[in-house]
Amino acid sequence: MSSEEIRKSFLSFFSARGGSAFGGKGKGHMIVSSSSLIPDDPSVLLTTAGMQQFKRYYTGELDAEKDFGTKNAVSIQKCFRTSDIDEVGDKTHLTFFEMLGNFSFGGYFKRESILWAYEYLTKILGISEDRLTVSVFSGDDSAGEGKTVLRDEESFNIWHKEVGLPKEKIRAMGRADNFWGPTGSEGPCGPNTEIYVDGVEVWNLVFNEYYCHADKTLKKLTSAGVDTGMGLERLVSVMQGTDNVFETDLLHPIILKVYELAPGLEEKTARIFADHMRAVSFLISDGLKPGNKEANYILRRLLRRLIAYQIKNKINPAIFKEIITLISKKYSPFYKEIENYGKIAAVAEEERFLFSEAMEKGLKELESLVITGAQDSFRVYSTFGLPFELQKELAPEKTKNIKKEDFEKEFEKHQEISRAGAEKKFGGHGLILNTGELKAGSEEELQKVIRLHTATHLLHQALRDVLGNEAGQAGSDITAERTRFDFTFGRKLTPEEIKEVEDLVNKKIKEDLQVSFQEMPKTEAEKTGALHFFKLKYPEKVKVYFAAPSGKGINEAYSKEFCGGPHVNRSLEIGEFKIIKEEAVGAGVRRIRGIILP
Ligand code: SER
Repeated sequence: MSSEEIRKSFLSFFSARGGSAFGGKGKGHMIVSSSSLIPDDPSVLLTTAGMQQFKRYYTGELDAEKDFGTKNAVSIQKCFRTSDIDEVGDKTHLTFFEMLGNFSFGGYFKRESILWAYEYLTKILGISEDRLTVSVFSGDDSAGEGKTVLRDEESFNIWHKEVGLPKEKIRAMGRADNFWGPTGSEGPCGPNTEIYVDGVEVWNLVFNEYYCHADKTLKKLTSAGVDTGMGLERLVSVMQGTDNVFETDLLHPIILKVYELAPGLEEKTARIFADHMRAVSFLISDGLKPGNKEANYILRRLLRRLIAYQIKNKINPAIFKEIITLISKKYSPFYKEIENYGKIAAVAEEERFLFSEAMEKGLKELESLVITGAQDSFRVYSTFGLPFELQKELAPEKTKNIKKEDFEKEFEKHQEISRAGAEKKFGGHGLILNTGELKAGSEEELQKVIRLHTATHLLHQALRDVLGNEAGQAGSDITAERTRFDFTFGRKLTPEEIKEVEDLVNKKIKEDLQVSFQEMPKTEAEKTGALHFFKLKYPEKVKVYFAAPSGKGINEAYSKEFCGGPHVNRSLEIGEFKIIKEEAVGAGVRRIRGIILP
């Protein structure tokens, strides 16, 4: 069976209303689409399980019958688990995966869950019974007051007496293995029973009888619920008889493409590429951007790990776009949000563009760098863009005494310093961006510099609109505090002209122009009329950044310039622009200083 057939068979098995082909009765579940990987539940960073979007149906805050017309739901959920990042590369671990699940909110309970799971595996998928073993909760009385849960006799009896599994195929296990939840700091939880095929765990049936509070005490839910989860990749691997998840029809085409673009790559690295590329594609398509904190940092960590391996293995950077395109095409029939591979690749590409140079240096220097404490480790991150985990991975000896929490403390300290504005002067930890024109010393500064950079493009065009084409760029220097733009013009500007230029820039910002770029041969680029700085020598192939109304191309752009970026995506991100000074810097050259508020 193909993965596609398995997805379909699962949904139809649980959603069918009439009889099934194998004589079983229709299960009548409502098919609910996957929720976003970025949950609206603040107690978790990313969606890790199918039950997450249903939390409030278990607690009774929401009414499934009202919303779904039934107490029972079935879904295929996009999931992401950070706990497995370091494991990726072996046969089974993945960060992103799809989870098949059936759920009940006060409808059926243990009996139906177990009998239907057994029916689905043996009758629909045709897995022979002698390949199955299961586990049930053994109970614990040592958990302490308000936390004790008894042995799950009921599940044991259903497996043994109704399904007919011999006793030796039913293992009783403790809390670590057979008690699930909660997701996040608190939520529904309960004992579970797990189903193994040939010793590989495939399906987890959780019986949510309790609400687990943050202090770990349990309270009985008014109506007990069911939450089951079966990792699609693992199931497909079982069904397709592959040795590992990367050989399933879900991941194998990606692996093949990785090898095509990077022949001879180590197996583990190829698997990391396949897994992480798929994960970043889905995370970005759900709207996540790389950043310094929380979920944004997770995305950054994945991207930078990919960038590091791409640099180390001298792989053509086109691999990002190529693999993302392949993943998008493969998955968009099921997940429409992943269709726009151009947009996804642009986010990945921007991260690479901004940091690969620094990272390359960092990777080269990693051996000679001294990392003795969290402070050094943070410096390596802020100077070279190498995330903590990547330092651990690439320089395990040097970093073995540095703890993540200390690194995070450094992070916070640094953020406080930037907030306090004590870091006006560059130096200390070096520049994370220095193109000559643009300079930023921290992530926060970088964001400002990017906004000011796009504002400077708009300013350049506005000057020409107001003063005529005599006004052309003569120089530019942008820091987090201001842009300093020099241009050719024969006289002092009047206050009215300054106001007019400023207003025009703000008008264009408010039009929320989309900023994008096109790469093309220099001669083509010149023909588009894009502005460029005559003093500079440009390579044969250049990037032209342009700001145009949504959906419009370069020919309808308000501003277009030869430029290496980076820029904001949309002009509204700039905020309000203000000219604070206009002065002469030489014969026929004027200088404007501009800032953005706040
Ligand atoms: N919540 C359980 C799991 O993720 C069952 O779906 O394994």
